[in-house]
Amino acid sequence: MRIAVIGSGYVGLVSAVCFAEIGHNVISVDNDGLKIAALERGETPIHEQYLPELLARHKGERLLFSTSVPDAVRQSDVVFITVGTPQSQTGEADLSYVEAVAYEIATALAGSKVIVEKSTVPVRTCEWLHKSLTLNGAASGTFSVVSNPEFLREGSAVTDFLYPDRIVIGADDSASASVMQAVYKPLTSGSYYGEPARFPLESYRYAKAPMVVTNAKSAELIKHASNAFLAMKISFINAVANISEEVGADIQQVCAGIGSDSRIGSKFLNAGIGYGGSCFPKDVQAFRSVAEQCNYDFGLLTEVMRINSDQRVRFLKKIRSALWTLRGKQLGVLGLAFKADTDDVRESPALSIIEALVKEGAQLKVYDPAGMPNARKVLSAASVTYVDDEYETARGSDALLILTEWAEFAVLDFKRMRALLKYPIVIDGRNLYQPAAMAKAGFIYHSIGRASAHPAAESLPGVEYSAEPVPALRASNSAD
Ligand code: UDX
Repeated sequence: MRIAVIGSGYVGLVSAVCFAEIGHNVISVDNDGLKIAALERGETPIHEQYLPELLARHKGERLLFSTSVPDAVRQSDVVFITVGTPQSQTGEADLSYVEAVAYEIATALAGSKVIVEKSTVPVRTCEWLHKSLTLNGAASGTFSVVSNPEFLREGSAVTDFLYPDRIVIGADDSASASVMQAVYKPLTSGSYYGEPARFPLESYRYAKAPMVVTNAKSAELIKHASNAFLAMKISFINAVANISEEVGADIQQVCAGIGSDSRIGSKFLNAGIGYGGSCFPKDVQAFRSVAEQCNYDFGLLTEVMRINSDQRVRFLKKIRSALWTLRGKQLGVLGLAFKADTDDVRESPALSIIEALVKEGAQLKVYDPAGMPNARKVLSAASVTYVDDEYETARGSDALLILTEWAEFAVLDFKRMRALLKYPIVIDGRNLYQPAAMAKAGFIYHSIGRASAHPAAESLPGVEYSAEPVPALRASNSAD
């Protein structure tokens, strides 16, 4: 089929290359000419596994780029809207970019087309989109508007698209529902998974992608409710971790016991400094605004947000109680991105903790495998030094902080770390290590939801430590 994807950000670009991958002819549109030119040169502006390979495979063939919405609309049967829906000052989603694109689409509508809202939008946006298109001249009967929310996690967006837990279609007429079923047929029929050149090449055993077909409002609610539930799960386990810490239990063992209940599941039960990113904070706030507009007090979501922001405050208290004063102290910091496997630092808990430490007069040496270029744009304090690897952050530092769950931070050479650190103190905001193993390696180790661990008295600074690297507890959140 002929598909236009309006907006080439995290969601739009991944969707465009994946639609091309499953056999469609795609035009990816963005109003940023520089970004489009870079894409036409084969450069990917975001850090996503398999994206460069897919772009190289389809660019110029089934995947074209443009800065003109009308041109792309005229050449397409299905038009996906994937522009940003940032949080407005008052908390609800800012839909001005969606409306601006609707105006441009309306000017080019002719024949029968399906307009698809893929950006995360509040319920009833489909109705508004339909009104906006009609008001801007689109003849009724020549288009329909459907909801097809994305469930892409940054860092695994390509595999989430090609191997989804489910595809959700919200259509209010059978014709547009049929069109959308045709768009995703390579995945729902399983034919894509039989192709030898399919991505990712490792042995993904997948038969057919499930599809949920419902009406537009239900599909819009599914998206908001899904993200709100996941965020609630994280805040819930963080609250339990805070109790666990107070009573001397081990949150990792508690999670193993909770998650083994098939009704709960073990995913998204990793306690830490909380969630960030461009989705959860925004979507939880937007969903609560939707509830308010429906005269429903969704106080649970207020609590989810409170717990999440409180995790950062608690972690700062943990640092102060480990180091006493912070002014003039040098801290090594591992992690800037809001989670592992992404370069995105939007709403990153790591950055808000770093900014607080800067305000308290600490000197910071920071490292992140992918997030440093984006972090530099928003974090340029003189007291923050960006270094080239994990070990440089430790050189001469009073303590080491772990703020993002990168897999490489879970397999550090702590013998080497210990030699570089001024004091053997590690404060782990993502529970990447086992307390007992860290104590054995000669560290004072603080983490989330577990008692602090201290080395045996004889292993004071300067004494030889156990040589074996500290076994990691698990790779990273993104493996969950
Ligand atoms: C999320 C949703 O998962 C995805 O379905 C939606 O389409 C977009 O928003 P994303 O924001 O990319 O995806 O990241 P995700 O992997 O969900 O993690 C979000 C945040 O929660 C990260 O800051 C992560 O560190 C944190 N997290 C995740 C935890 O603190 N604990 C966990 O157990 C899991």
